[in-house]
Order: sequence, then structure tokens, then C-alpha cells
Amino acid sequence: MHFSKKCSVFKVILSALFIVALLQLIYLSFLSRFHGKQQRYKYFELFGGGSKRNAHQTEKNSKKEHLRYSLSTGGIFDASGQYRVYRNLVKSDFSTNQKPGSGTSTNTLVLATHTTINNLHHLDSLLERWKNPLSIAIFAHGQDVKFATALVYALSIFCPHIQALVDFHLVCPSEETASFPEQDREHFSGLEDCAGVFAKLGSHRDKYKNYAIGSNISYPNNLLRNVARSGTDAAFILVIDMDMVPSDSLHQQFLDMVARRRPNTEEVFVLPAFEIRHTRKLPATKPELVQLYQVGEVRPFYEELCPRCQAPTNYSRWVNQHEHGPDQLDVAYTLNWVDPWEPFYISARSVPLYDENFRQYGFNRISQACELHIAGYRFSVLNSAFVVHRGFKVQGEFHSRKDEENRRNRVLFRSFKEGLKTKYPTSPRRC
Ligand SMILES: *[C@@H]1O[C@H](CO)[C@@H](O)[C@H](O)[C@H]1NC(C)=O
Ligand SMILES: *[C@@H]1O[C@H](CO)[C@@H](O)[C@H](O)[C@H]1NC(C)=O
Repeated sequence: MHFSKKCSVFKVILSALFIVALLQLIYLSFLSRFHGKQQRYKYFELFGGGSKRNAHQTEKNSKKEHLRYSLSTGGIFDASGQYRVYRNLVKSDFSTNQKPGSGTSTNTLVLATHTTINNLHHLDSLLERWKNPLSIAIFAHGQDVKFATALVYALSIFCPHIQALVDFHLVCPSEETASFPEQDREHFSGLEDCAGVFAKLGSHRDKYKNYAIGSNISYPNNLLRNVARSGTDAAFILVIDMDMVPSDSLHQQFLDMVARRRPNTEEVFVLPAFEIRHTRKLPATKPELVQLYQVGEVRPFYEELCPRCQAPTNYSRWVNQHEHGPDQLDVAYTLNWVDPWEPFYISARSVPLYDENFRQYGFNRISQACELHIAGYRFSVLNSAFVVHRGFKVQGEFHSRKDEENRRNRVLFRSFKEGLKTKYPTSPRRC
């Protein structure tokens, strides 16, 4: 008797446990089905026809049509025939709302940059600092072409600040083509919002080192710079690399400055370039930068690998120069170019383009600075604006072919300089 009562209590507990487990299972299966539905819904929202006729949906459809159209053109080949260029794959609201045919936008400064998918995750903090129109040329090859197309589209759909401000251009090897990412569900799985897209990009970082993108593929940095530059009709352009950020409020301060002081016709505005230890927070203002500079957490860009490449900026002079007012951007001093200076600067859109024969490592920016010099330009260093590269550039972190590429480009640079003598026969300047 006693024993059987105990047994039935045990039975009751056992069945209760069984029921709980069953309910758990039902709940879980419901949850996963719901999640699947949500994912399908997200995917449908991105690519489906969409019966919802609200303004948001209509806008999304027009973006989708724009993308579909840009891709269907097949892009255009670059001058060498080795690359395919899709200009304005995705256009920002800013560019879309620019009046067509109204000529150059006199009151605009656009930041132009270039990258592989590898470094695109930097866009988040770059835009957070810059807060103004940006033109990005992305290079991709192989499987990355699809990935890049899908991710760029997802960025423009999910991230309102990107949709508002960023124009995307895509460049790939000419034997490849980009296509509408309709069949690429795997690239979109789990993408629900802007943070999700950046998480996906983040997981793609460090896939390859600088310029080491494939055994047979050259990163066309100067082509990309030109594509990003000509993708905008802004009056002024700042070209920097994707892993750099400018100082705070530069856009407004610069436009205020040119309103007070029109630039001379052959003048560009140099932003002293620094690099910062990886762990450090990027300084926003000159006082913040100088503080870090004095303790060695910030140093001149490329100080270890090529100190001469930036030294003409005259860092000690710049650091010790005090500004007129906290927000008053102005020219600190004006310099002539000297070999081998590779400054970063804001220029009018009319400055000579980059020479697209330079690819991979070496001489790609210096060749353009040299051409500006021969064309009669002077370099005005801004008093309180700057650019900072994330991380110290150190010996040994570069890909194995760097030295070989540098040698090749050195030869190219020699013939480029010969060419400039013909292009500017009356110039008394040499470089
Ligand atoms: C590299 O490119 C050359 C010429 O474009 C081609 O002949 C060769 O097959 C390529 N090699 C590889 C490994 O793709
Ligand atoms: C930097 O500027 C100072 C003047 O402030 C000058 O004396 C010095 O020679 C300059 N250095 C270089 C490397 O041009």
C-alpha cells in the first residue's frame, strides 16, 4: 500500500515533467517557424514585389529599380580594359535630390574614398565623424562581387544615414560582372537592421592584408579614387583612404572658410596626416590630437616606413601654431611641393585626376601630387584640420609582394614624370 502510493506520486511527477518537456518542444518549434517566417519576410521586404503601397515601400522599389538598372548596363570598362566600373550603383538621397544639369554644386564638399569589402566596416565610424556626403568606390572580385552588391544594397536599405549621404560605385575585373542579388539569399540571412549589416561586414574584415587580394589581381587604387571623385559634382573634394578619419566639423568649417576667403585658382588645402595606436580613441579636435601627439600615442603618418613622405608638412610648425579662434579654420602656411611629399588635401574638383596606371603599392598618390606641382599648384596647410589613420603603419605587416610592386611602380613613376614634361611644356617646375 505504502509503496504503491509512493509509486503513483512518482508517476504524476513524471507525467508532469513529460508535459512540460512537450510544451517546451512545441514552443521551440513555433519559435523557429516564426523566426523563419520573419526571415522570409525580411527577404521578401528586400526583394519581393511588395503589395504594401506605402511611401517607404515605393521608395525602396525605386532604389531597387535603380540598382537593377545600373547592373543591367553591365558597367563600363576603364581605359585599360581590365576593369569594369559600375558608377552610382546606389545613389544617396543627397545626390538624387541634386538638380540634374545645374552644374557643379558650388557650396559642397564631398569626401571620396575607396576600399575593398574587407575595410567597408570602417564606413560606420567614418560617417559618424564626417556626417556629410560621401562617395565610395568599392573593388571586389570573384565571390566578393556578389557579396559587395548585396551588402551595399542592404546598407542603403537598412541604414538611414547611409541612404541619406553615401553614393556607392563598384569596380571589378572586366571578365566578371555584377548581378542583382536576387538569388543570393545566404548573403541576407540574419540581416534585420543596420547593425546586422555592419556585423556581417565586420566578420569579413582582415580577410586579406592591404593590397594582397589575389595572386593575379591588382588593386586599382588610382582608378578607384578617380571613380569616387567623378561620382560627385561637388565643387570641393577630399580624397582619403577608408581607414582614415578627418577632424570633427571639417565640412562646415571648410565651407565657412571658403566663403570668407575664396581659394586661389591653383591652390589645394592640406590636412596634416597622422596615425594613432590601434587601441586609442580617434581625436576629434586639434587640442585632443596634440595631447596624444605629445605622449607618442599619435605620430606623423608613415613615420616608421617613410618619414620623408610626410615630413614636408612640417609637423613641429603645425603642432606649435595656435589658432585664431576655436572654430576658425584657416590657412596656417603655404608650401611648394617637394619630393617625396604625399599630402592629403581638399581640392577643387578641377585638379588633375590620378594616373590609373598606378596600382597596388607605391607612387600612386605621389604621382598626382607631383603633377599638381608641375601644373603650378601650391599647397596651403590648414591650421586646425587633420586626418588620422587608424593604427601605426609598421614594417612587416605588409604583404609579401610589396617591395616588388614598389619597384615596378618606381619605374612607372620615372616614365610618368617624362610624360609630364610633354603635358606641361612651359612649366619651369620639375619633380
Ligand atoms: C594571371 O594572369 C595572366 C595574364 O592575365 C594569365 O595568363 C594567367 O593564367 C593568370 N594566372 C592565374 C593563376 O590566374
Ligand atoms: C618648419 O618650419 C620652421 C618655421 O616654423 C622652419 O624653421 C623649419 O625649417 C621648417 N622645417 C622644415 C623641415 O621645413
